[in-house]
Amino acid sequence: MQNSFADFEDAPHAFAPIVAAARVAPVFRTSEKVVNYGKPKGRTMTKTQDDYAYAIGDAPFSREEMIAALDEFAELYEKRPIKDNHGGMLSPHMFPLWFATRRLKPKAVVESGVFKGQSTWLIEQAAPEAKIYCIDPELDRVEYRSERAMYLSEDFSRHDWTDLPAEDTLLFFDDHQNAYDRLKAAAWFGFKKIIFEDNYPLGQGNCYSIKHALSKADPQFAELAKTFKPEHNVAWWKRLLGLDKHVPSYEPTVEPETDAKYLRRNLAVYYEFPPVVKLDRNRWGDPWNESYPTPAPLLEGTPDGARKIYEEEAASYTWMAYIELR
Ligand SMILES: C[S@@+](CC[C@H](N)C(=O)[O-])C[C@H]1O[C@@H](n2cnc3c(N)ncnc32)[C@H](O)[C@@H]1O
Repeated sequence: MQNSFADFEDAPHAFAPIVAAARVAPVFRTSEKVVNYGKPKGRTMTKTQDDYAYAIGDAPFSREEMIAALDEFAELYEKRPIKDNHGGMLSPHMFPLWFATRRLKPKAVVESGVFKGQSTWLIEQAAPEAKIYCIDPELDRVEYRSERAMYLSEDFSRHDWTDLPAEDTLLFFDDHQNAYDRLKAAAWFGFKKIIFEDNYPLGQGNCYSIKHALSKADPQFAELAKTFKPEHNVAWWKRLLGLDKHVPSYEPTVEPETDAKYLRRNLAVYYEFPPVVKLDRNRWGDPWNESYPTPAPLLEGTPDGARKIYEEEAASYTWMAYIELR
């Protein structure tokens, strides 16, 4: 990669507004594979199967490899620089980010949504050779600063990324923005590999997620989508009252069916990381019913020893997803 940090400082914010991203020509492919996690292939979902999740294509990770890495991660996580990271990432997100980054070996990582810097530290551990670009409009909150990272306060869509090795760069979004728009921008810049931390299910979350887009267009969820009212969502009210300035939109970009169609056309891989441990209830205190399609957990029962952390922080699970664009 030729890009240096100095290049970045000098780079004009050459890319025009994200509107340009809408012009991305979709790649037409007919082969698409949608499978169920934890279910024999080909078995269709019914509303009583609560471990269903969407998947497109083959992710370069297996459950067995993830399970085998749990102890190593727990040991590393002990050394995290920020002990109280509530409001940011905990082990349900930190583990899959570390696992995937290590596996993908990116030459560069762009992290959007830094908060105190815990995930930056993790990216450093998982990709010791990678250049790191950290974006957050509120960089004064950063407690852990990486010497290997460049810190940027302008939005991801407003940088010149042309010198980055697009195919060898991992984008990590934990910024509560419209994920569908983020994908379009990523495609426009030529990036392929993307992780979304906040991939909330229908009716939850404070930003339009890829899971929202896929669920809204699914006949299995038609009923749920119809009864979903944004005003039942706390985030919607916060936004209305101006209490959450980070909330951009909960609305579909076009129509749910259209968004889902374009996702299926443009995604080679969509993979929801499974929870390590599943508590009786999810982060909103709801039972794991048909409203919350979720992959089966990596661990059954009550973990002990170093693995206890996975149970202690399990409530913060967010259906984090790995995506590869065609
Ligand atoms: C949940 S926190 C990120 C947590 C962090 N990844 C960690 O390791 O704990 C979300 C962050 O997104 C930031 N944010 C809001 N709008 C953003 C934007 N347009 N681009 C990048 N970051 C943004 C917020 O300032 C906040 O720090």
